[in-house]
Amino acid sequence: MEKLVIQGGHRLVGSVAASGAKNAALPILIATLLAPGEHRLANVPDLADISSTLSLLGRLGCPSLVGPTLRVDTTRIAFCEAPYDIVSRMRASVLVLGPLLARHGEAIVSLPGGCAIGTRPIDQHLKGLEALGCTFELSKGNIHGRTDGLRGAEINLDMPTVGGTENILMAAVLAEGDSIIRNAAREPEIVDLANFLITLGANIEGAGTSEIRVSGVPRLSPASRPYRIMPDRIEVGTYLVAGAITRGDVTVTNCNPDEVRSLLGKLTSAGATIETTDTSIRLIQDGPVQSFELITEPHPGFPTDMQSQMCALACFADGVSTITENIFENRFMHAAEMSRMGATIDIVGRTAIVRGTGAMSSAIVMSSDLRASAALAIAAMGADADMPEGERGLSELRRLYHLDRGYENLVDKFRSLGARLARVEDDESDPAVLLAATQHS
Ligand code: EPU
Repeated sequence: MEKLVIQGGHRLVGSVAASGAKNAALPILIATLLAPGEHRLANVPDLADISSTLSLLGRLGCPSLVGPTLRVDTTRIAFCEAPYDIVSRMRASVLVLGPLLARHGEAIVSLPGGCAIGTRPIDQHLKGLEALGCTFELSKGNIHGRTDGLRGAEINLDMPTVGGTENILMAAVLAEGDSIIRNAAREPEIVDLANFLITLGANIEGAGTSEIRVSGVPRLSPASRPYRIMPDRIEVGTYLVAGAITRGDVTVTNCNPDEVRSLLGKLTSAGATIETTDTSIRLIQDGPVQSFELITEPHPGFPTDMQSQMCALACFADGVSTITENIFENRFMHAAEMSRMGATIDIVGRTAIVRGTGAMSSAIVMSSDLRASAALAIAAMGADADMPEGERGLSELRRLYHLDRGYENLVDKFRSLGARLARVEDDESDPAVLLAATQHS
C-alpha cells in the first residue's frame, strides 16, 4: 500500500483541467444496461470506482474496453446479481437495481450497509421501484427484486435523494406509460444521466428541477455518437479550495462555473477573488482567509461533497467558522485528523465550530473517506507555511485508496500547480527519502 507525502507552504499557481465527473460516469455506465448493444463514452475518468463499475458490468456479462473513448457491450445480460465484494467497495452498485429490473425483470443486489459517512439507507429507491411494479424480498443479506413488467407511476420522494432519483429514473424510462418523480434531486449529475438516456431514445422532461416527467418507451438503443461525461464539479471545487488555502492563483479549465455557484459564493466570502469564463474558473487568494458560515443542502445549495474541503479552509481562517452538515449524519470524521494538524474543531450536533488560527502544522493523518482524504491532502499543502522552507515538516496521508476512488491523476495535477507531494510505499519512513520524493522538478 502507498501513502501520500506532502510538504506544505508552497503557493499553488497555474492551471489544471477538470476530469470527467465520477458521480455522473457511474450512473451513466450502469444505464448502458438499459439498451442492448455497444455504447461509447468519452471523458470517463480513470478512477478506482470506475474500475469497480466496469468489473460489476463484466460480472453481469457486459464486457468493456477502456481507452480515450470507453466501450461497453451490453448486448447480453448473462447474470443479474451485484455481489457483496463489489457493493461493499462501492455503494453506487445499488444503481443496477433499476436497469436490471427494467430490462431483465430480476435483480439481486447485496445490501450496501452503512459506510464511514453514515447509514445511507435505500428505502426511497425501493419505494419508487415498488410503485413502478417491482417486488422485493430480503434474504441472506441480499435484496431480491422481481417484476413482471414495469408500469408508470407517480412517486413522491421523502427527500431529494440523488441515487434514488437515478435508480427510479432508469427504471421509469422503460416502464409502460407515464411517470412523475416529485421531490427529485436536482444535481447536475441527474441532468447528465437524463441527457444520456435521451440519446438512447428515452422521453424525459424536467431533469434538473424537482419534478421529472418520463414517458416510457418499449426499448432503447445505443447512441450513434460517443456521449461525453460532464466535468467533475467536486474535483473543480477541491482544486479551487486548495488554491485558497495556499493563498494561490489557480485556474481550473474544462469546467462549468454554473455548476459550482454556491461554492464560488462561499469562496468569495472567505476572501477570494473569482473570475469566470464559460468554461473556466480562476481563484486568487491575496489576503488572509476570512471565517465563514456554511450549511450543506441538496443542489443548488452547498454540496456535502465539498464540506470537508471547506472545513480545511476554515482551519486557515482568522476567526470562528461554522459548518453545518445536513445531508449525512457522520461526515466530520476529518475533524479529529485535522486536530492532529493543529485545528480546533468542536462538533455540536450537526455543526462543526472551527476556530481558525490562520495556520496548520504538518502531521501524519489517516483518511476515513474520499472527501475527507481530499480535505486532509489540501490542508497539508497549506501546513507549515509560516516557517522557512528548510524547517518545514512533512505530512503523511495514510489509506490512500480512498483518494484513488475519486481524483484522477491527483499527484501530477497538484504538482503542475507547484505543490510538493509524492506517493511512496507505506513502510518508507526515512525522512531524507520522503523529502526527496516530494522535491520533484
Ligand atoms: N437517503 C435515505 N434513503 C434513501 C436514499 C438516501 O434516507 O433511500 C438519505 C441518505 O442516507 C443521505 C441523504 O438521503 O442522508 C442523501 O443521500 P443521496 O441518496 O442523495 O446520496 P447518494 O446517492 O448515496 C450521491 C453521491 C455522493 C454525494 C450524495 C449527496 C454518487 C455515486 N454519490 O450519493 O457522493 O455525497 O449523492 O450529494 O453519486 C462522494 O462522491 O464522495 C459521495 C459520497
